[in-house]
Amino acid sequence: MKLKDNLGREIDYMRISITDRCNLHCRYCMPEVQDRLPHEEILRYEEILRICKAAIRLGIRKFKITGGEPLVRKGAADLIARLKMLPGTDCVTLTTNGTRLYEEIDSLKQAGLDGVNISMDAVSPEVYEKITGGDHFHEAEIALYACVKTGLKTKINTVLLKENREEWLKLASFAETLPVDVRFIELMPVGCAGKLEGPSVDEAYRIIKDRWPDLYQSDEKHGNGPAVYFKSSSLSGSIGFIGANSHRFCSQCNRIRLTSAGELKPCLSYETGVDLKRLIRSGADDVQLENALKEAIQNKPAAHCFSEKEEITERRPMNQIGG
Ligand code: GTP
Ligand code: 5AD
Ligand code: SF4
Repeated sequence: MKLKDNLGREIDYMRISITDRCNLHCRYCMPEVQDRLPHEEILRYEEILRICKAAIRLGIRKFKITGGEPLVRKGAADLIARLKMLPGTDCVTLTTNGTRLYEEIDSLKQAGLDGVNISMDAVSPEVYEKITGGDHFHEAEIALYACVKTGLKTKINTVLLKENREEWLKLASFAETLPVDVRFIELMPVGCAGKLEGPSVDEAYRIIKDRWPDLYQSDEKHGNGPAVYFKSSSLSGSIGFIGANSHRFCSQCNRIRLTSAGELKPCLSYETGVDLKRLIRSGADDVQLENALKEAIQNKPAAHCFSEKEEITERRPMNQIGG
């Protein structure tokens, strides 16, 4: 079964934030220690699985596990294994800051994880710490090598900031020696990032193209997300760009988001959503749950409004939404 919204977009991908907690404090996401959502406000794994089963019945096939930092929540690998076992699931991937990844790789691999994205905003420990609030680049780096070694499909996520301009080429160079996709992401004005400005993917592209002049766009599919990928004869991996602001991709949008507090969000830039936690905790049956999912999906906004900041109604920080 194919699930389409009112604009004819096929929605088959659900991002699930399993926790708002994180052991880092990225400037653009959660710069200060925040009050955590109370434990009982966070969806339990059983509740997440119930929502996923309903979503699969409607046509969702791909799941992304995010946070906060998903690996700070106990049992993440087990959730992934259970999601993978649901009839109808095509693929389950994980986006993590990588600092607690190394010790989880075996269980994630055993769980059947289909791919992992590691956030790395800098290579130099000083710049990494300035951006993330912690001196943990090394942990993320050893996890990166171990993921590649174990054969997991691995990508690097770099958010474009003026603070990490000098780092872009160093990060891109991971694609020279490793079969990884290094993706440069435009800063989206959600939560505290609303106060920041970031460079565009076009600026990053020019720098990358200068370094690898035979860079050419590749049509191969590398995942379920909005990145556009480029290759070069000198790269074993590829370079991706996610230009959410300057190259809006909303007309191809294929996804919905489940927040850690159990709200189904049809678009990143608006606060509107359906409170699935309240629905299921008030005793809703599966038909009611499916109807709520369907309604949220059908009414997905046409596009985000990041260029008209006064129209952004999403006030929650990115760590509660999951990126
Ligand atoms: P894969 O390539 O399949 O791993 O998916 P992905 O690129 O969606 O995964 P990831 O979680 O690594 O997200 C990368 C970046 O893309 C993050 O900054 C996300 O916030 C951003 N992103 C993902 N989906 C959307 C979207 O629908 N709209 C916008 N504006 N940004 C998105
Ligand atoms: N803009 C763009 N990307 C963001 N991420 C977190 N906040 C933002 C933002 N405001 C990225 C993280 C991670 C992914 C899930 O989302 O760096 O790689
Ligand atoms: Fe943590 Fe990710 Fe937010 Fe950074 S972007 S503070 S790693 S949740």
